[in-house]
Amino acid sequence: MPNLQALYDQAIQGYSLDFLYTSYDMTTATSLERGFSFCGRGQSRMVYRRKNVVIKFPRGFSGLEDNICEAYAYHKYRKQSNYNGEFFAPCKLLSNGCLMMNFVSKMDFKDMPRWTFYIDSSQCGMFNGRVVAYDGAHSLIYLKDDALRWAGII
Ligand SMILES: Nc1ncnc2c1ncn2[C@@H]1O[C@H](COP(=O)(O)OP(=O)(O)OP(=O)(O)O)[C@@H](O)[C@H]1O
Ligand SMILES: [Mg+2]
Repeated sequence: MPNLQALYDQAIQGYSLDFLYTSYDMTTATSLERGFSFCGRGQSRMVYRRKNVVIKFPRGFSGLEDNICEAYAYHKYRKQSNYNGEFFAPCKLLSNGCLMMNFVSKMDFKDMPRWTFYIDSSQCGMFNGRVVAYDGAHSLIYLKDDALRWAGII
């Protein structure tokens, strides 16, 4: 994935990756034509939704690393949990560094299993009758080297 490597080099030098979602023109009519609408934003990613799919646009280096780690974790564990008992939302890394992920429905804290307390801000919910993390990157630091190798970056 040569594109991704170039993007990573750019991001690691501190350049913003906002052009990824502004070039998609997600905030104007184009997004409506494509059926995408704003879903949420965090410190490092902008998220747009269409039906049961979201696209997570990295805004810089840490968003790109989070996308790569979450994609690798799902590739590695699928419907199984990692060694900490954590489950991850199905997702796929796109060649431009964005992450395509299934939409995860919010759920009550009181219904969350214990492993979700160890996910950053318990950012978990329901997908297909299972509890999964939609922002599990903080728990995946141990996978980072493998994930970057898998993505062809190191
Ligand atoms: N798969 C998903 N299903 C439903 N909503 C989502 C999903 N992924 C992200 N979101 C929404 O978009 C917001 C931003 O996404 P996310 O938390 O992954 O970004 P981030 O920049 O990594 O956040 P943080 O600041 O917590 O590190 C979330 O708080 C949530 O509301
Ligand atoms: Mg978040």
